[in-house]
Amino acid sequence: MKRNVSVLLGTVMLSLVLLQTPQTVQGDRLQPKGYRETVEKLQKFYVQFEDKVSREFRRWKEDGTMSQHFRQLIHASAINKNERAQEIRELPTAREGPLCTICRGFGGSVLEFRREGASREEVFNTTVELCTMLNLQEESICRGLIELNIDTILYIVDNRPDLTSASLCAVVFQSGACVLDDPSFTEWEVDVDPNGTPVTASKTGTAQRGPNDLKIVQITDLHFDPNYRTGYNAECGAPACCRESQGVPDDAEAGAGHWGDYRNCDTPWNAVEDLIDRVAEEHSDADIVYHTGDIIDHGIWETSIGYNVRSINRVIGKLRDTFPETPVYNILGNHEAHPTNVYELGEVSRPDFSTNWLYHLSADLWSHWLPRAADQTIRLGGYY
Ligand SMILES: *[C@@H]1O[C@H](CO)[C@@H](O)[C@H](O)[C@H]1NC(C)=O
Repeated sequence: MKRNVSVLLGTVMLSLVLLQTPQTVQGDRLQPKGYRETVEKLQKFYVQFEDKVSREFRRWKEDGTMSQHFRQLIHASAINKNERAQEIRELPTAREGPLCTICRGFGGSVLEFRREGASREEVFNTTVELCTMLNLQEESICRGLIELNIDTILYIVDNRPDLTSASLCAVVFQSGACVLDDPSFTEWEVDVDPNGTPVTASKTGTAQRGPNDLKIVQITDLHFDPNYRTGYNAECGAPACCRESQGVPDDAEAGAGHWGDYRNCDTPWNAVEDLIDRVAEEHSDADIVYHTGDIIDHGIWETSIGYNVRSINRVIGKLRDTFPETPVYNILGNHEAHPTNVYELGEVSRPDFSTNWLYHLSADLWSHWLPRAADQTIRLGGYY
């Protein structure tokens, strides 16, 4: 489960409401002194910036050409190329405000543009241009991402007339600097034991295994990339590198490793296979295997249903061959869906948005290890 800035921003434009996965960010990171005050000041700044961008954006659409001032605004907002592939939660806190500003400013203008009647094609062309100029990704990736997500995003925007750029960006970024105060998102509660002990440090040591304890192996986030090629460019600046289409770099140092690569690359098949074989060998006494999803790679600008089906079949097939007798309990990750992150739970009656292909595929593939009763809910929403 990985979320990168460019992707986020690419969406900024509208695209990303659904590209990202909700996750708590505030709770697990320290905030610098005066953070709250800074964020309060930022709120006013966002509104001013949004107005400024909006004026220039309108002029652009009326005149057909970008003013020098608008170009400067875009240029000043453009993200650093090395931020493209980074996960948003790993960026320095100091970047949260600027990124939210860009989202509010440009995302807000595109939102208005649509509300005032812009067609799909107009929104598409405009967001591709902004995505590219803001350096969120290179043009082909901007195009792919926006093409895959635009219909879902437009559907949401069109059906939620009260959705604001503030809520949109807050949901996308999940950062403290992008405040979410829309009650339709914030009115929910979790009961937490007030007498519980807070976790303040990493666990030390390993608990002794008792005679009634189960041994469970968890496999997660395999992110198998069928396009991975040894020696191909591991420093490509896209959300996933080391892929066949990205070519062999001039500098051999930038070439992808045989078993994978610690740079921005996903997992080659030989590593997936080896990992699963090693689990079976080293943990032949495991009672249960949990496989918690994210089989699909980060080529989020060019997934398709057929592509995802092939990767899922291959990985679950390998698990079935390796663990025919040990129960393997699978769940879905945010990357199994096409487009990435976009799950439909039977509330939207648009066949082109349906995730049923994935629920039915999962029900068929997981059934090897599950009681028949689980089938019904998996076909309904991918859970059991
Ligand atoms: C969108 O861009 C394409 C390709 O550049 C162009 O042919 C088309 O006319 C544009 N459409 C609109 C509505 O601007």
